[in-house]
Amino acid sequence: MPAACVIGLQWGDEAKGKLVDLLAPDHDCVVRYQGGANAGHTVVSGNDVYKLHHVPSGILHPQVMNFITPGVVIEPTTLLGELQELEGRGIDPRKNLVISERAHLVMPWHLLEDQLMNQLVVQGENIGTTLRGIGPCYRDKVGRNFAVRASDLLQADLGDRIAAIVQAKQTLLRGMGGADLVGDLCADRVTETARAWTEQLRPLIGDTTNRLLDALDSDKRLLMEGAQGSLLDIDHGTYPFVTSSNSSGVGICSGSGVPSRWIRRVIGVAKAYSTRVGGGPFPTELHCDTGQKIRDLGNEYGTTTGRPRRCGWFDAVAVRYTARLSGVDSLALMMMDVLGHFEEIQVCVAYEIDGQRCERFPCEASILRKAKPIYETLPGWNCDVTGARSLEDLPQRAHEYLQRIGELIGVPVKVISVGPDREQTIFTDRQQLMTLVA
Ligand code: IMP
Repeated sequence: MPAACVIGLQWGDEAKGKLVDLLAPDHDCVVRYQGGANAGHTVVSGNDVYKLHHVPSGILHPQVMNFITPGVVIEPTTLLGELQELEGRGIDPRKNLVISERAHLVMPWHLLEDQLMNQLVVQGENIGTTLRGIGPCYRDKVGRNFAVRASDLLQADLGDRIAAIVQAKQTLLRGMGGADLVGDLCADRVTETARAWTEQLRPLIGDTTNRLLDALDSDKRLLMEGAQGSLLDIDHGTYPFVTSSNSSGVGICSGSGVPSRWIRRVIGVAKAYSTRVGGGPFPTELHCDTGQKIRDLGNEYGTTTGRPRRCGWFDAVAVRYTARLSGVDSLALMMMDVLGHFEEIQVCVAYEIDGQRCERFPCEASILRKAKPIYETLPGWNCDVTGARSLEDLPQRAHEYLQRIGELIGVPVKVISVGPDREQTIFTDRQQLMTLVA
C-alpha cells in the first residue's frame, strides 16, 4: 500500500501540522523526513494546543506509528523536552515513536556556529536563521568528519569521538572569529550531556528505513510530513535565503528511504495569503497597514522563534512553481478565515521584472528581489467563516476565491481550513482524497 504526502508550498508555517494530525487516523505511520527543531508544528485538539518541533504530528493518535527518519537533524535536548511535555499531558509518545539511528544530531557546537554565521550578511541581507544549528549540522553531515549520528550515542567510544570533534571545533570557531565562544565548548560537559541523551533515547533509536519498507510490504499506509515550505528548499528555493534540507517534495525519498514508486498522493498546503520569516525576497510582501492586519488576524508570529512573520497577498506565481515541483495533485488552502475581513483581496498572477511580464518563478534571489507583483483583484466575502463546516456554509465569494486559486495553480483546492481546530476544516471529498491512486 502506498504513501501520501503533505508538503508546504510557501516559505513554511502553512499549518501542515494541523492537516497531518487530521489525516493521521487514515494511516498507519506518520513520517518526518527532513528539517529539525527549526520546524514548529502546532496541533490543536479541543482546548489543548501542542507545539511540536521534531515529533511527527501523528503522535496524538496512539494507533499510529511515528518515525523520525535519516533526513532529519535532531537536537536531543529539544526533542526530550517535547517528549516530556507530551508525557506531562497524559500522552505516551514512547509507545509510538521511532528515531532513525542514521539521523544526525545537532550538537552544542552547531548552535554556536549558527549564532556566529547568522551575523553574516549575504547579498545585503541576513539569512535570519532560526538559530537551531540546522545549517551547521547539515554542513557537517555532508562534510562527514565531524558528524554525530543517533547511532553514535550507542557506541562505547562516544566520549573519544566528542573530544576529538570539540578540539577541532575550538580551532574552527577561533578561525571564524568566535574566540569568545570557545570557552562554552567543553568536551567533558558535552560528553556528559550526550550520555544523558543516550540513557533517555536508547529505547527509541532503531532502523526506520527497514521498518518503513516492511510496513509498505505489509500493506500499511504511510503519511509523509514535510517540514518548512518548498520555497525554502536548499536546491529549488530562494537560495541562499533557504533552509539546509530539501523541504519541497523532492526530499521525501532521500530523507525517508521510501522509494518514489510508493508515493501516490501529494497534498500541497498553502495559506490563503503569504508569510515569510527571516531574510530573502518576498515579492508580495505588504509593508502597510494591510500587512499588519493580516499579521494580527492570523497571529503571524513564529512558533519556533516568536519573530513577527512578514505578511503579504497570495503569490500564485510562486505556488504554481512549487506545486509543480512537488508533484502536488490536491491543494489545501489554510487560514481562509483571516481573509474574511477584507473588502477586496489581491492575488499575484505574474511579476513584472525589468519591464517584462514574467509568469515563471525566477531562480535568482537578486532577480526575484526586482519582481513587482501584477495583481488581480477579487471581491472579499467580508464575513466570519470560522463556523463554516461544509462547502455550502461558505459564501459565494469565498467559493470564487478558491476556484480562482485552483485555476491559477492548476490543481484543485480539496481542503479548506477556517480556524485552528480540527473541526474547522472542510474537505471537498475526504474519501476521494484518501483513496490513493494505484
Ligand atoms: P534555518 O532553517 O534555521 O537555517 O533558517 C533558514 C531560513 O529558513 C530562515 O529564513 C528561517 O526563518 C527559515 N525557516 C526555517 N524553518 C522554518 C519554518 O519551519 N517555518 C518558517 N521559516 C523557517
